[in-house]
Amino acid sequence: MGVVDTGAAEPRTSLHHPLDPLSSEEVTSAVAITRADGRFREVAAHTRFVSVSLHEPAKESVLAGGVSPREAFIILLDRARETTYELVVSLTSQSVASWREVRGIQPAFLMSEEVACEQAVKNDPRFLEAMSKRGLTDLSDVIIDPVPAGNFGYPDEEGLRLARATAYLRRSPDDNWWAHPIGGVVALVDLHKMQVLNVEDRGVVPIPPESGNYDVASAAPPRSDLKALEITQPDGPSFTVRGWQVEWQRWHIHVGFTPREGLVLHTVGYEDGGRVRPILYRAAVSEMVVPYGDPSRSHYFRSFFDAGENGIGASANSLTRGCDCLGEIYYFDAALADDVGELVELPHAICMHEEDYGVLWRHSDWRTDRTEVRRSRRLVISSFSTIGNYDYGFFWYFYQDGTIQFEVKLTGILQMGAISSDEIPQHGTLVAPGLNAMYHQHYFNLRLDMDIDGTANSVYEVHSESVPPGPENPFGNAFVARRTLLSTEQEARQLIDPLAARSWEIVNPAVQNGLGRPVAYRLIPGDNVVPFAQPDSAVIKRAGFITSHLWVTPYTPGERYAAGDYPSQHPGGAGLPEYVAADRAIDNTDVVVWYTFGHHHIPRPEDWPIMPAAYAGFLLKPFGFFDRNPSLDVPPPTACHNSCHE
Ligand code: NI
Repeated sequence: MGVVDTGAAEPRTSLHHPLDPLSSEEVTSAVAITRADGRFREVAAHTRFVSVSLHEPAKESVLAGGVSPREAFIILLDRARETTYELVVSLTSQSVASWREVRGIQPAFLMSEEVACEQAVKNDPRFLEAMSKRGLTDLSDVIIDPVPAGNFGYPDEEGLRLARATAYLRRSPDDNWWAHPIGGVVALVDLHKMQVLNVEDRGVVPIPPESGNYDVASAAPPRSDLKALEITQPDGPSFTVRGWQVEWQRWHIHVGFTPREGLVLHTVGYEDGGRVRPILYRAAVSEMVVPYGDPSRSHYFRSFFDAGENGIGASANSLTRGCDCLGEIYYFDAALADDVGELVELPHAICMHEEDYGVLWRHSDWRTDRTEVRRSRRLVISSFSTIGNYDYGFFWYFYQDGTIQFEVKLTGILQMGAISSDEIPQHGTLVAPGLNAMYHQHYFNLRLDMDIDGTANSVYEVHSESVPPGPENPFGNAFVARRTLLSTEQEARQLIDPLAARSWEIVNPAVQNGLGRPVAYRLIPGDNVVPFAQPDSAVIKRAGFITSHLWVTPYTPGERYAAGDYPSQHPGGAGLPEYVAADRAIDNTDVVVWYTFGHHHIPRPEDWPIMPAAYAGFLLKPFGFFDRNPSLDVPPPTACHNSCHE
């Protein structure tokens, strides 16, 4: 469990919160129970563990405060029968509670498949011939990068578990090999049989020669004019931690972690008037997709569903190997299982700390010569995942004024292709000689199970508009803010409209604030974009969730993922488009708000060889949830008394 680095943590008790992620002991136990089951023993020789995670108890039971049985949800991949099993394992009764076969889908990629796939490609005579044409006879420094094959409706690919693999050259042991794509060659691999089905060679392209290394030695000499900047918290942090439960500045947050979604937040509430008022029951990244805009045969298939195809949590970094946070830090440790069911401990999977965030509020009155100023402090709960070439930071921020912010930090290495020296890229940016960084977008969908002061909520579209000239607007200056109830799922499919200042309001119609208005939070978009892929393209079929920014559904336990349970090689239509097909009513019910946002990435030379972090996200801001500024009681900054006042 979490490492107590700060003294702020109380000893963890053996009593679980029903939403605590599985502990190391529980992961081990769930695997042992599975291995002992007769159904598993029959298929064990050719069956791999895809994931082992908490099977969350029913929402009603958690909200009622009852004791829930501890259960694990396990996905198994049977490579001989080419099928998938979903298990619920009861840790309480030490038995497999349910065993379900799911046919015709592909669960997430396994690390062992990536390793075996590399070897299979390197052993294939057609691939060897393609490398030999490029002067590469020793393949020890050739790196194979297999990615899920997508689904383009090719009849001969139907039903197969496939990867498309491209190759890179590593010029030295620590080389950034992403900088040296071996162009023109794509291998198609059957991952169950581990057979190379074909190798396409579209002709030799010179391997981009420039070094893409970014370590200290490569960037030497380092600049020497940076003075020390230290964050000291002599009294320790202001948060308290009990197991996975966090309290900070009136906020109550239960932290969680799953192999698929990574960081999860549960039962987020704000203490107000002596009670904790619920805001969110559950929040997590439900899916990601990164569609690339290059139509060439070497690249058209690139559209990575990093949650469903790889696992954000399964790809999470242990921050023992480098954490970007300053100050007093608390870490949560995660427990996962590898392909053969062995426990994988991920120490420091989640980082939590506080940050000074400039001015919270201030005003100067020249008549009295008085200034009241308060500094803003925020609680940061974050995790970093490396998925292929990219590194994604997932950051939740909690503010003293009741605001919640979600932000993704995008960094790492660009996905690049080799082009000949006389070619001008049409769908990418030349970032180094012969190196084309392809245009792409990064989409994230956040599933937000909103519970504003209770489960029955409604969602309104809100925007502003000018009043036409006339008796209602005699001076031409008038504008109004319009609120429109979204009463069905189809009405709630919406796009952002920054020119009309569109946001969405989640209200509890049954609870009024002190001004007689229903209490509410607003979802305020940040930067966003629409897809440029065609509506009938493979990626849009599979990632229908990116065609609307807002989706609202009535809470349904099985509806968890924006592109469906198993997006890998899926023909399309799953997830949100399927969930909302019945156009269910969403008024005054337990609503789930799904927000899709995209980061549009036209790469810059400055993103090479490693990309300075880009940011994307949104805000959840109280809008009449409180009767007035809830941060009036934040005390004046003591540091300012020492240094600001002469
Ligand atoms: Ni990008």
